Amino acid sequence: MKTTENAYAKINLFLDVNSKRQDGYHGITTVMQEISLCDSLTVTVDREASERKITVVTDSPELSLAPTDNLAYRAAQRFLQRINRDANIGISLEKKIPIAAGLGGGSSDAAATLRALNRLFDTPLSDGELSALAAELGSDVPFCLHGGTALCRGRGEIVTPLEFDADIRILIAKSSDEIKTPRAYSALDKKYSDFTAERAAAEPYFCELKEYISGKRGKIPELYNIFESVIFDECENARKIKEDMLSFGACAALLSGSGPSVFGIFDSDSALLGAKAEFDKKGIKTFSVHTK
Ligand code: C5P
Repeated sequence: MKTTENAYAKINLFLDVNSKRQDGYHGITTVMQEISLCDSLTVTVDREASERKITVVTDSPELSLAPTDNLAYRAAQRFLQRINRDANIGISLEKKIPIAAGLGGGSSDAAATLRALNRLFDTPLSDGELSALAAELGSDVPFCLHGGTALCRGRGEIVTPLEFDADIRILIAKSSDEIKTPRAYSALDKKYSDFTAERAAAEPYFCELKEYISGKRGKIPELYNIFESVIFDECENARKIKEDMLSFGACAALLSGSGPSVFGIFDSDSALLGAKAEFDKKGIKTFSVHTK
């Protein structure tokens, strides 16, 4: 049996860290938005196999296929453990989402694997069970299962869908900086003794974004991501990309997740294409996408 599944990337329209938790994670408040940039997975299953075997192949030379690192592999492994079945699973992964870019590519591949397998095994897990399994794989995986626009709390795994029908044009530009998420969180811990003052500073941005999403405000407000305050100190390229994005005509621009991708929101195709051409001239890789 065989199925294909798209794994869509995400951006964060708002991201604030509220607390450092006992379990080593951070309490966050984030608004995630699914975008049209996607990986494509083809998943095959031999349900009659007597042994448990999982194989992942990909067209991406950068992606680690080590079972401990690859989130699609781990998703398949956890799924079989959870339903207590042996099977032969093959996953072919066509990568379009840049790796370790703050766009949720690995998380989305894991979520797509779970969706595909639940379908191929005739829905053994309910939506709630699938979300719980997703949360074990990573904080962003439950959002990626759901997609759309959502307010995510806890360590990111508590997902509340938001109604948002705007079709927004987005340009993503990726600097070549390498940023590891745990290191980005450590940098925040070093900078802020607790997150109380920053929470107060972030609140007006959150309120304005909620008004925009609910349609009470026509123009996109200025956006907020607490990671900018540490990542832009370390990665001059990412800071410059944000400045350029705004000077090339974006209505708003923000670092996505812990970076290094920066996205810009444009109010016309011509403005977006103009900005894209400017980044092309500088040799900076861009992706022209829209909200899903
Ligand atoms: O949940 P995920 O495996 O994607 O998280 C990767 C790492 O990012 C965690 O091990 C942790 O260091 C950090 N993290 C965090 N707080 C969050 C999410 C991630 O500290 N809410």
